[in-house]
Amino acid sequence: MRLVFMGPPGAGKGTQARAVAQRCGIPHVSSGDIFRAEIDNKTPLGLKIRSYLETGELVPDPITVEAVAGRLAAADCAAGWLLDGFPRTLGQAEALDRALAAGGDKLCAVVNLEVEPEIIVRRMGGRRSCPKCGRIYHVEFIRPRVQGACDVCGAALVARQDDKPDTVRERLATYHRQTAPLVEYYERQGLLVRVDGGGTPDEVRARLFEQLKAFVGR
Ligand code: AP5
Ligand code: MG
Repeated sequence: MRLVFMGPPGAGKGTQARAVAQRCGIPHVSSGDIFRAEIDNKTPLGLKIRSYLETGELVPDPITVEAVAGRLAAADCAAGWLLDGFPRTLGQAEALDRALAAGGDKLCAVVNLEVEPEIIVRRMGGRRSCPKCGRIYHVEFIRPRVQGACDVCGAALVARQDDKPDTVRERLATYHRQTAPLVEYYERQGLLVRVDGGGTPDEVRARLFEQLKAFVGR
């Protein structure tokens, strides 16, 4: 099964992608998580891309395509994957199509999580994540059992550097300029599944599973 999760920053892609990947038994591959790990580990790639994430711009296509392709070449991705946050430009989408075609594979579906702008800003403003296992929380909507600590591994939760108001504004503008046009690209291919991302995480998850039924196993 090969799925793509799209949607504006803060829509809930990471939150839902984790659950869907787990239920389907496929790895959750998030380009943002890959980049943040490189930055945290101060690798040469991390040093090169740091400024893009800090300002809310997209990392250039050649770097992004290489990083994601490297992850998809790993053994655990052989039977499928769920891509979260990639592709984000037409160039990335075309690179993915070429790679899939070369392997005789195709996408099952592209989920577009649709959420109102006011909700997005509130969701990003209160986001906290676990630096160890990546689990995502919200100070108001999705609280950990013990304030400030991850339910799974107990690590101290952190706010993302790019969730500052100025960077959030830039990320939203980048999304509308460079990523939103992909909705039409996948709609034309008959792959797009529009999912209402409003409501509680459980409500969104239930909608997602219901709508994905028709596409799974294609
Ligand atoms: P990335 O990490 O992909 O960030 P993003 O797309 O901006 O999306 P987010 O992770 O901010 O939001 P999300 O939709 O995952 O929401 P979440 O589930 O966390 O990318 C970061 C940067 O990396 C980019 O700006 C760019 O620089 C670079 N990059 C990444 N991919 C790239 C690419 N392909 N090309 C070039 N550059 C790339 O939820 C948000 C909050 O809401 C959380 O607090 C959560 O707990 C809460 N929440 C979620 N669902 C609900 C709900 N239903 N109700 C209430 N609260 C909810
Ligand atoms: Mg995310």
